[in-house]
Amino acid sequence: MGYQYDTLIYNVRIASMQNNGLPYGELPSHAIALKDGKIAALIPCDNSLSEVLKQAKNVLDATTLISQDEDEGEDEGANAKHPWLLPGFIDCHTHLVYGGNRAEEFEMRLQGASYVDIAQRGGGIKGTVEKTRCADERTLRNTAIKRAKRLCEEGVTTIEVKSGYGLDLDTEARMLRVAKSLEQHLPVSIQTTYLGAHALPNEFTEDPDGYIDFICNQALPYIASQNLADAVDVFCETIGFSTSQTERVFSSAQKHGLPIKAHVEQLSDSKGAVLAAKYGALSVDHIEYLADSDIPLLAQSGTVAVLLPGAFYYLSEVQKPPVNALRAHNVPMAIATDFNPGSSPLASILTAMNMSCVLFQLTPEEALRGATVHAASALGLQDRGIIDVGRLADFTLWDVETPAELAYCINGHRPIAVYKEGKHV
Ligand code: NIG
Ligand code: FE
Repeated sequence: MGYQYDTLIYNVRIASMQNNGLPYGELPSHAIALKDGKIAALIPCDNSLSEVLKQAKNVLDATTLISQDEDEGEDEGANAKHPWLLPGFIDCHTHLVYGGNRAEEFEMRLQGASYVDIAQRGGGIKGTVEKTRCADERTLRNTAIKRAKRLCEEGVTTIEVKSGYGLDLDTEARMLRVAKSLEQHLPVSIQTTYLGAHALPNEFTEDPDGYIDFICNQALPYIASQNLADAVDVFCETIGFSTSQTERVFSSAQKHGLPIKAHVEQLSDSKGAVLAAKYGALSVDHIEYLADSDIPLLAQSGTVAVLLPGAFYYLSEVQKPPVNALRAHNVPMAIATDFNPGSSPLASILTAMNMSCVLFQLTPEEALRGATVHAASALGLQDRGIIDVGRLADFTLWDVETPAELAYCINGHRPIAVYKEGKHV
């Protein structure tokens, strides 16, 4: 007789991240049943559990994963610590495929040069473009695997990766292929984003609008036809692209049926978020300089606000994103690492969560929702980010008393188990 479930894990406290009125959407003392890579059932651990256990091919008592207090004696069965089960983390904004590094630029900044100064002198993103263009696919892949592995070790099961360090079509396509190939090397899903409009390449210095023509008429059609990207992003900024240039890229993305994401209001209030909302963007990212008066537009368009405290920290910024106003308008806030060589060499989603609390005053629950349910929305993914029947069985188990500990500690925790699409990895 076939089994109803492939795997059943019991004695867990589930932080479902649903809105069930309890902090973290808690489902206390539950079992989770998995079938074909998805969550098949969520079952309270009561007297009926023994019947359910017979219906699963593999059964795991989660309390056996953690060392129980020795002095618990005979009560151990009833009082044994139940691990917390959380949705796999989703890092919804990274640039982790790139050549070289920017340690030298870091030293220049420590001596007083600003991020903008360095960019204007041809360093910054353009420096990484030079090194990425020279890097072959194998080198790019090997370095990217190492970086992504760090994220996976903390329980990240989905990563968004942007292009944007090639700018020419060949290198952009190479970056996107390398990003997607990480799925072959690590237990992770990759979402790719074409960020051709990240910086103006040297070959177009005299003709910025010509570069936008190239993106809209050549690069984007090719990338869309080859299914290389799941979304399109633009760096709308004084040192990036103007709103009218940004709008041309958005409208071209829309023509090709690709959803929009945008780097906006990171260094100035350029009104990129207003434009992104007009185009129904999935997310606006950074947004330190976002004006309170523009927030209702994001609420209306269902756009997620992606906070990137790593870049804020690393660039010693002082202008904070308008968290209170975002909250007041119920704009979902996601948290991501922005892992990149220049503004956020941060290979830790847990540290990003901690930073979002310390630097931006999010609550630990907001931080955890930001790296799960809201991060999924920032990528337009409805099949993950919460623990519920029918969703992907991407989840992690933790030896903590409360999920808040994950945002409270710095480098204090690693998951005691990670499941990716139903498989223990
Ligand atoms: O998200 N703001 C633009 N892009 C990246 C930085 C990239 C870089 O400096 O290499 C960011 O901060
Ligand atoms: Fe970024």
